[in-house]
Amino acid sequence: MTLILKQKRRIRRVEVERAPRLGLIRPTKLGFRVSVRLHDGQTPEDYARVLDKLAHAWKVHSVRLVSWRPGKVTLVATLSDPLDRVSIPVLSDGLLRVRVGLLDTGTPFAIDFRAVPHWLNVGATQSGKSNLANVLIVGLAPQPVALVGFDLKGGVEFTPYQARMSALATERAECAELLADLIGIIKSRMALCRAHRVKNIWHPRLPESARPMPIVVLVDEVAELFLMADPKSEKEEVAAVATRLLRIAQLGRAFGIYLKICGQRVGSDLGPGVTALRAQLTGRICHMVNDDETAKMALGDMDAGALVAARQISPAMPGTAIVIGSEGRWHRMRSVHVTEEQAEAAAAEYAHLTPSWADLTRGAGSAGDVDDSEMDEFTIPDLEDLPV
Ligand SMILES: Nc1ncnc2c1ncn2[C@@H]1O[C@H](COP(=O)(O)OP(=O)(O)OP(=O)(O)O)[C@@H](O)[C@H]1O
Ligand SMILES: [Mg+2]
Repeated sequence: MTLILKQKRRIRRVEVERAPRLGLIRPTKLGFRVSVRLHDGQTPEDYARVLDKLAHAWKVHSVRLVSWRPGKVTLVATLSDPLDRVSIPVLSDGLLRVRVGLLDTGTPFAIDFRAVPHWLNVGATQSGKSNLANVLIVGLAPQPVALVGFDLKGGVEFTPYQARMSALATERAECAELLADLIGIIKSRMALCRAHRVKNIWHPRLPESARPMPIVVLVDEVAELFLMADPKSEKEEVAAVATRLLRIAQLGRAFGIYLKICGQRVGSDLGPGVTALRAQLTGRICHMVNDDETAKMALGDMDAGALVAARQISPAMPGTAIVIGSEGRWHRMRSVHVTEEQAEAAAAEYAHLTPSWADLTRGAGSAGDVDDSEMDEFTIPDLEDLPV
């Protein structure tokens, strides 16, 4: 008699930790760089998730995944924090471009209004927001650029730099007027572009002599523009300010008007216009904040790692921020320290470069508002149109 035994076979997948296949470890100025070959089934994401753990295991300050290609990732380890002391000179680095600080990779970080036209800068009090404005004043003052300030903290922030500012608004009514003027400027620049059949002021077909001067608008504490002590009497004014600011954000890029907006909180609680405005401010700088909500508002639904990094910013290192620039990735950055006195001195030194508001608005007719249909005609400048 034959006995047939039936045996059921099962395959079970077992995960086995396998040592990473490290390439050559190469020293860098701040630590070392190493490439790692991925095992089958691994993705760069598997490494991105455990960078913190790696930093602890390797006993270094931080590990970053700097690049990858199929089957391989490159990691860079930094032995100590390069942001402990930031001592790069503030440099104006080409038209509308200012080196404002250092990334934790050890490379300089520049705010480049040509590449990213509008910036949102949030942070708790004493986190370093005004310092960044000082850096920009020092960097932009020597350039052929007009500066405009909105400072509803009674002018305490920007009055010292008034010599280099073409206009400064310290009351909401003044703000509404100044914003209307800016829209007037946009409309006249629109007409200019139409006449030369170009879509933005940087287009090479626009003769150099006709190219209008770029304007950088600095807003300190944006909440002051939106908050109402008495909704009844102020509602209209606030609505006008909100719509105009939004229009400038939508159209500014094509017509050489750039925004840098600061605030401790820039949430929807300030009114419906704020969310739309925030969406236009694609450059993000998130200093130390007191609540997760604000970090989320600034960094959006980026990588959760960006929010964790924002939460870890120490009050002992003011000026440190998480930034999102042109390529959409986040970095840790610390601005170079520029005192109010230094910024004031730069404003005074280059006061002679300040165009008058009358000159800037000359030819700009009555402001009115811009129709949506008018906006469609104009596009954001192509990168190749931008001056180098
Ligand atoms: N990058 C930096 N390096 C060193 N110190 C800095 C840096 N940035 C800011 N500080 C210092 O931190 C302090 C607070 O900075 P700042 O005034 O810019 O904060 P803020 O965010 O504008 O605060 P507030 O909301 O109260 O206006 C200042 O004394 C400033 O000198
Ligand atoms: Mg400040």
